[in-house]
Amino acid sequence: MIAPSILNINNLDLKDDIKIAAKAGITRFHIDIMDGHFVPNLSFGPQLVSDFKKEFPHLEAEIHLMSNNPDVLVPAFVKAGAQIMLLHYEAMNEAKLNYWLDYLKQNHVKAGVVLNPDTPISVLNKFIPKLDQILLMTVYPGFGGQKFIPESVKRISQVKELVKADFPLEVDGGINAQTAKQAKMAGANVFVAGSYLFCEGDINKQVDELAEILK
Ligand code: DX5
Ligand code: ZN
Repeated sequence: MIAPSILNINNLDLKDDIKIAAKAGITRFHIDIMDGHFVPNLSFGPQLVSDFKKEFPHLEAEIHLMSNNPDVLVPAFVKAGAQIMLLHYEAMNEAKLNYWLDYLKQNHVKAGVVLNPDTPISVLNKFIPKLDQILLMTVYPGFGGQKFIPESVKRISQVKELVKADFPLEVDGGINAQTAKQAKMAGANVFVAGSYLFCEGDINKQVDELAEILK
């Protein structure tokens, strides 16, 4: 599955570009939420998510929450229509992470944990039974258009050993034709791609190309 990140789309083109990607077969979009604190950048708020769900009710909204203010933002994004919510391990203590994972379950929102490139894989162990998805960052979060960190490949295979074969194991950052192939070989099965899909010209062609590689 490809989950395009809309972060690097010209904000005034969001609707058009989402339509083109959906027409090319995309069914889920990855929406990056940056709070200017956990990461040094700002992106979208809950209104973008509710507008997205109103305009595209058949498309799935996956929220990548890069914020250490979950108490305010998790409920706000659930209310806005988030269907999958991915929370950073580094953004809160374990008790809080547990609390919000349970909250998501109770609200019928799929729950995932995100690990930064330097967070040990072993921290996942105690959360795995609660998770619908795991997201491994393959860049340091904050900006689109960065280079895939090669050491990520080994981390993907380490997570793969902890979960069932079909468990959603997602990668995010610097994904292109080449790095997607490497990530897939290591066991990833959900691929976030931003600038590769939306900043290289023909969106339709880029989606096709990536889909073909991941077939
Ligand atoms: C980075 C974000 C990513 C990013 C992906 O902090 O989480 O989702 O937008 O963009 P590319 O594919 O350009 O690395
Ligand atoms: Zn992301």
